[in-house]
Amino acid sequence: MTPIPLQQSDALVLFGATGDLAYKKLFPALLAMLRNGALDMPVIGVASAKWDEARVRARIARSIEEHGGIDDPRLLERLLAGFHFVGGDYNDPGTFRAIKKALPDAQCPTHYLAIPPGMFETVITGLGASGLSHNARVIVEKPFGRDLASARELNRIAQTVFPEDSIFRIDHYLGKEAIMNILYFRFANSFLEPIWNRNYVESVQITLSEKFGVEGRGAFYETAGCLRDVIQNHLFQIVALLAMEPPVYREYGAVQNKTAEIFRAMRPLKPDDLIRGQYAAYLDEPGVDKNSDVETFCALRLHIDSWRWEGVPWFLRAGKALAGTVAEVIVQLKRPPQRLFEDSATRNGRANYIRFRISPSAAVALAARVKTTGEEFVGEQQELYLLNEHGGEASPYERLLTDAMAGKGALFIRQDAVEAAWAVVDPVLADHPRILSYSPGSWGPPDADRLVEAHGGWSNPDMARTDQK
Ligand code: BG6
Repeated sequence: MTPIPLQQSDALVLFGATGDLAYKKLFPALLAMLRNGALDMPVIGVASAKWDEARVRARIARSIEEHGGIDDPRLLERLLAGFHFVGGDYNDPGTFRAIKKALPDAQCPTHYLAIPPGMFETVITGLGASGLSHNARVIVEKPFGRDLASARELNRIAQTVFPEDSIFRIDHYLGKEAIMNILYFRFANSFLEPIWNRNYVESVQITLSEKFGVEGRGAFYETAGCLRDVIQNHLFQIVALLAMEPPVYREYGAVQNKTAEIFRAMRPLKPDDLIRGQYAAYLDEPGVDKNSDVETFCALRLHIDSWRWEGVPWFLRAGKALAGTVAEVIVQLKRPPQRLFEDSATRNGRANYIRFRISPSAAVALAARVKTTGEEFVGEQQELYLLNEHGGEASPYERLLTDAMAGKGALFIRQDAVEAAWAVVDPVLADHPRILSYSPGSWGPPDADRLVEAHGGWSNPDMARTDQK
């Protein structure tokens, strides 16, 4: 069957044009799209701040200067030439009338909601009431909901205004090269399949560590916390790609079916699956409550109740103000059944593993033991590297925005998946262990070690390693 061609969007409406995400990520992505011929259309920036057009334009220019990475003044001129700003309250129908006026000819606009999550419903409703939703698409930033009930409600409202295939729930991790490579690496190779299961995998660890604190986003962070901010979405997406069954046909919908199955198979978390931490000095951040109980670090033990993964624990941890900025997956394999050599894979030593470095550089490494020269049968574990970073790749936002404007939903999150992921964390959003303090620059509260004690401890990413040859 020939697929029906997807209509290309012919206008972009960016809600939250004066915000942090637009400044750091979206304007640079738009500039890159313009350079690649993927943004031949008007861009309307919208914000509740009533800035004048000149101030917004100056901010775009600064955003490109600081985060754009493209040194071509003509491109910036072109971006600004096609740009128009509308400032107004999102509760005011007049704001939506002004957007409509700025878009006289658009047949298929895309609306990007880069706004605080509390405003999603208001803007979606406004788009519906004003008719701006007609034949349009909507991209919704994370966090999509703040628990299962609110995600369901948001889905309900969004679907009364837009059909499901016009709703693009974004998780920028799915636009990262190193994460797309997990999917490719798993199913483009045959040697993995026999060992990729409970018979050979002892446990899996995923670390997303950031050296910096909340960096002026204290007020947002207070509404989120680490579990909502990066675990329920970014880390769960990585788990799903690592754990999923092979897709049964060659379409991305097949991948979405299989990743959604993993979210459904995840066992809902219990309080003792979790360690919550807060870095000393978080309480001094602007916008943070002096008695805040919000976690800036979270470590957890997850189980996937499926045939393939029965009994294999998944350890996830993420946090701010940690020892370094790095994201890494370790798939820890079981020890050989018999200890033939004195030094081979002792209870506390690491057995063979597969390591996916996601950032700052991308790499895949397979670790195996080899004998060192000499009469004794002793050896060491060495890594065989597969590097797949070439540089110059599209930023996740450029890639995902280009896809959404073309109507391609493959790298976006479906309603059922987002709700199933919330169902896993829902029980511990309110009922959780008390917060533990940790020193900035550490690997989180020492108690986090307890979770993985019986599995050889955390494998802390080697910060000196650049994974570059
Ligand atoms: C965002 C979170 O979604 O992801 C941030 O809100 C976090 O708190 C960021 O820092 C991490 O993304 P990246 O691409 O820098 O690893």
